[in-house]
Amino acid sequence: MSTIRAVPIGVGHYLPKRVVENAEFEQWVETSDEWIRGRTGIERRHFAAEGELTSDLAYYAAIDALDDAGIEASTIDAIVLATSTPDQTFPSTATKLQAKLGITVGFAFDLQAVCAGFAYALTTANSLILSGQAKRILVIGAETFSRIMDWEDRTTCVLFGDGAGALILDAQEGSGTNDDRGVLSCDLNSDGTYNDILYVDGGVSSTQTTGVLKMEGQEVFKHAVKKLASSGETALDKVGLSGDDVDWIVPHQANLRIIKSTAQKMNVPMERVVVTVQDHGNTSAASIPLALSVAHKNGQIKKNQLLLTEAIGGGLAWGAIVLRW
Ligand code: UT7
Repeated sequence: MSTIRAVPIGVGHYLPKRVVENAEFEQWVETSDEWIRGRTGIERRHFAAEGELTSDLAYYAAIDALDDAGIEASTIDAIVLATSTPDQTFPSTATKLQAKLGITVGFAFDLQAVCAGFAYALTTANSLILSGQAKRILVIGAETFSRIMDWEDRTTCVLFGDGAGALILDAQEGSGTNDDRGVLSCDLNSDGTYNDILYVDGGVSSTQTTGVLKMEGQEVFKHAVKKLASSGETALDKVGLSGDDVDWIVPHQANLRIIKSTAQKMNVPMERVVVTVQDHGNTSAASIPLALSVAHKNGQIKKNQLLLTEAIGGGLAWGAIVLRW
């Protein structure tokens, strides 16, 4: 039976020019390249320049994705932008991006699910396409986490980076089977009883300040492996697939040890896992589209391959998506 599918037609990314190697942190806090590399897999990350905004990063990623798709910005009828580090409290970073792209029709909005932001954005965009609300959607994850770091807290400041990734989804006719290109299934979850293991200690209605990131790393780590594997399995199960069918896991890039343990739990060998955490650090909502774009450009992921993306972050919020590239 024919059905509408949200099919990826272009992907792109942008990383700010400034690259910060692990060793640079030794000047600010008691840490070492060896500790950061050994515990996280991170080797370097990018930091936005002064005055460089989340919407700027999103803009360059969007241009890269439009170029990859070979389409004009004017053909986009919706923008769904995941971020926890917006330019301003309002208007949305999505509408700022819309203006930068010269789009004055359709609709654009931000969505906030921290590191799970892209999984939430992709699921939302898929639903908008399936319900006929939009035909061609720019899905973006863009972050400037360097703005919410506590530079004296070695347990967090070495982990995060800035960047943006963009994916364009197009409404196309499919056959209704798992052979279709596009989003095949989604699984979203959250549990607010874990608000206090990963949060920012400021906000509009509480402190009227931006605040800095606080994390109980070990606690988040334990939840991450369990919840990512279980959400990945649920998403696959919904369409009668298993880890064996997956060509690539494209996971949230927070920690190489989490990525490896999750893949192992799902019986997927590391040769079939996209890893970019060494070069980007944890870029929150930007990490999955960044990884997708890098893997697309370097020829790892190919048309018609089956991908599983999964992410977890503050909330806790987590989820997984199965899509055929
Ligand atoms: O994207 C959102 C989801 N976030 C995540 O998935 C992050 C999840 N958590 C993690 O990735 C890891 O828990 C961390 C990388 C944050 C920490 O790794 P860990 O193996 O859990 O280390 P730990 O917190 O147990 O700390 C071990 C030791 C401690 O010292 P003591 O108490 O054993 O003396 C820390 O104080 O390492 C110390 N430590 C550091 N040492 C050098 C913590 N941070 C650093 C550092 N440099 N930067």
